[in-house]
Amino acid sequence: MKNILITGGAGFIGSHVVRLFVKSYPDTHIFNLDALTYAGNLENLEDVEQASNYTFIKADINDSKVIQKLFEAHQFQSVIHLAAESHVDRSISDPLSFLKTNIFGTVNLLNAAKECWKSNFEDHLFYHISTDEVYGTLGSSGLFTEKTAYDPNSPYSASKASSDHFVRAYGETYGFPFIISNCSNNYGPNQFPEKLIPLFINNIIENKPLPVYGDGNYTRDWLYVIDHAKAIDLIFHNGLKGETYNIGGFNEWKNIDLVKLLCDLMDEKLKRIQGNSRNLIRFVKDRPGHDLRYAIDASKVNSKLGWKPSVTFEEGLVKTIDWYLENQHWLKNVTTGLYQDYYKKQYKNN
Ligand code: NAD
Ligand code: DAU
Repeated sequence: MKNILITGGAGFIGSHVVRLFVKSYPDTHIFNLDALTYAGNLENLEDVEQASNYTFIKADINDSKVIQKLFEAHQFQSVIHLAAESHVDRSISDPLSFLKTNIFGTVNLLNAAKECWKSNFEDHLFYHISTDEVYGTLGSSGLFTEKTAYDPNSPYSASKASSDHFVRAYGETYGFPFIISNCSNNYGPNQFPEKLIPLFINNIIENKPLPVYGDGNYTRDWLYVIDHAKAIDLIFHNGLKGETYNIGGFNEWKNIDLVKLLCDLMDEKLKRIQGNSRNLIRFVKDRPGHDLRYAIDASKVNSKLGWKPSVTFEEGLVKTIDWYLENQHWLKNVTTGLYQDYYKKQYKNN
């Protein structure tokens, strides 16, 4: 049986990737390594935790000794690396924790994999999951391609850009087998309610204000998380080593338009008078260094590997809203404790 290590599998995207792999590849053993930070939630994986081809390991990718021992013990054939600090606002108030996990933690994994695989790199793969934010910001036109120069603007994107550079440098320097993909904004079930869509769904349910940063004219390219997981599966199995693939939703929305759509869909679901939730919108102090626009040219992964999103934005958004409404125990569990302390700190001036 082949062993695959997935890091960050208790988080939002990682949990969808773990589920997909555990269910699709019964002859592969999936090891989910996660430190269970505030963003890691094993409830995300309740439906696969008893599977015979699944093991959870609570560990920190910054702990080089533990990581090395795990590679020795399990001889992972491949790695899909998602573990990261992922929230831009947190990176603005605490850049060092992003440097530590996203850069140092990634290099730790690279070193352990290099040591374990050095006699036959060709049989192995380190698949590094990254973000479109490494490219910086677009003006009102143009798209990020795989050739766009890196130009990160936040501590989060600078740390992700650095980790991408390390992965590529290991390829150049040691012949290390890697693939990188850079994806746009994900949304869907199990996303921690500090990111725009789940935060606003939760606030609408609770009739709380919807804090739109700046004038709301910032643009993001949204992709349903299960479509990202499917792209990761395809790239992992059919992508070319040494290459980068951009993944996006072909789906640009200004924040304010997205928030209005979300409000209207929620009013319908909650049987509230149309327009009710829009009254909760508040324009608040902008995010420092806020990138104006992200938009991905996903034509490479489309033409080379045949991937494209399977749901429209409206379908994905309705599925997402339904999931949060049907899983309010999940929302309640994560909106207590640490998360609420953070919430108060982040929004205290608004
Ligand atoms: P998330 O914050 O929901 O999950 C991150 C997971 O990593 C959590 O389970 C957390 O416990 C774990 N983790 C954090 N630090 C760790 C450490 N030191 N050791 C082990 N585990 C640790 O993040 P997400 O939104 O699911 O993003 C996953 C990956 O995808 C990240 O690398 C992110 O940069 C990338 N990405 C995210 C998006 C998006 O829109 N969310 C888009 C493109 C790329
Ligand atoms: O582009 C990919 C990236 O998308 C990922 O790499 C990140 O991990 C992920 O968090 C996401 O980053 P963003 O900063 O784009 O996502 P967020 O949900 O935090 O914000 C989306 C937009 O909404 C952004 O323009 C900021 C705005 N926003 C966000 C919050 C939390 C608000 O206006 N108000 C808010 O309260």
